[in-house]
Amino acid sequence: MRMVDIIEKKRNGEELTNEEIRFFVNGYTKGDIPDYQVSALMMAIYFKDMTERERADLTMAMVESGDKIDLSQIEGVKVDKHSTGGVGDTTTLSLAAMVAACGVPVAKMSGRGLGHTGGTIDKLEAIEGFHVELSNDQFVKQVNDIKMAVIGQSGNLTPADKKLYALRDVTGTVPSIPLIASSIMSKKIAAGADAIVLDVKTGDGAFMKTIEESEALAHAMVKIGNNVGRKTMAIISDMSQPLGYAIGNALEVKEAIDTLKGEGPEDLQELCYTLGSQMVVVGGKAVTIEEARTMLEGVVQSGEALEIFKKFIAAQGGDPSVVDDPSLLPQAKYKIDVAAKETGYISKMEADDIGIAAMLLGAGRATKESTIDLSVGLVLQKKVGDAVAIGDTLVTIHTNDLDIEKVIQKLYAHIIISADKVEAPELIKKVITE
Ligand code: URA
Ligand code: CA
Repeated sequence: MRMVDIIEKKRNGEELTNEEIRFFVNGYTKGDIPDYQVSALMMAIYFKDMTERERADLTMAMVESGDKIDLSQIEGVKVDKHSTGGVGDTTTLSLAAMVAACGVPVAKMSGRGLGHTGGTIDKLEAIEGFHVELSNDQFVKQVNDIKMAVIGQSGNLTPADKKLYALRDVTGTVPSIPLIASSIMSKKIAAGADAIVLDVKTGDGAFMKTIEESEALAHAMVKIGNNVGRKTMAIISDMSQPLGYAIGNALEVKEAIDTLKGEGPEDLQELCYTLGSQMVVVGGKAVTIEEARTMLEGVVQSGEALEIFKKFIAAQGGDPSVVDDPSLLPQAKYKIDVAAKETGYISKMEADDIGIAAMLLGAGRATKESTIDLSVGLVLQKKVGDAVAIGDTLVTIHTNDLDIEKVIQKLYAHIIISADKVEAPELIKKVITE
């Protein structure tokens, strides 16, 4: 087989065979095929697209390019959730404990974040003593015992995706639906998921800015999952403004705890129930989405979800008393209110820029080497659609440094107040079940 023939075939808009797809994925991973040929193929795929069959084959070729996590010793259907990423997205922590309380095992591999705030692991490390270094046996045992565990990235998962993504990044071929969809799905499958629920964000703060692009990506991923034997569902949710109120690591842990008590911000609470319903259904613990939702609301009201979260923290070395007393989480020295300069309605809170403001405070990493201050961040006091009077607090800044003029300027520039009444954006734009 020759790489140049594969490139020409795709350039001419033809369908590649599974053998051809495996040839280039394996050859590139091993270093036998040079960057320039794979770049040309990525560009051909960008223009000519891939069929559903090719997308499924590409996904599995990437899964098989490296290690796979073996979760077969965990009883039940292992369901994983993936979010395409947003600002202040605290969902994972509350959602995991809620679905675990419904009997769906949550065996999660998570990363540190490079973005506005830390990733799930950074957030959890805001809890004194918490660690994610579990052996495989400990991980499996903990999920079987209490239905929930989170470990850090381990093993050499999907090396093909790592190389291809780095190449796409510098060749203008990232925004291709078949390439993005196979990249995301390969990582979830290699991490051991039997079933997958996807939260595809849309809007200013999202990777996909328009509803059309987000929908195309969601459909592509759901198709791939179902074609390779992993039950997959998706939703499309709003990311034109940050999710919930808190943006920052310890602040988001507190918000997750509030949500587990049923006292979270309305949007975050709703997102947890919507995604959770899909997870409980694909996890085989309910037949309908409505039945699953009733179960989730039940475990929140009864306190069972919160109880699992406490056991999970304790099992991984953390101090579970933070759940009853969130003031034990790291606290910033200063709380500074940013007041509205006009009266009217909040018409925009641009997620991306508000996220950057939180990062400037030290809540996120500007580069891989940056360290995070777990205590700092922003707490929104208003959301889009809310009425506001001059002097009302828009945002409270939690900071350890009083040199925050740039942060304040950024907040004023990206929180827009209009004279006319504005409707709050719809949170759940679409639910995709097949
Ligand atoms: N995120 C991924 O994991 N892969 C892509 O290709 C794009 C975004
Ligand atoms: Ca939040």
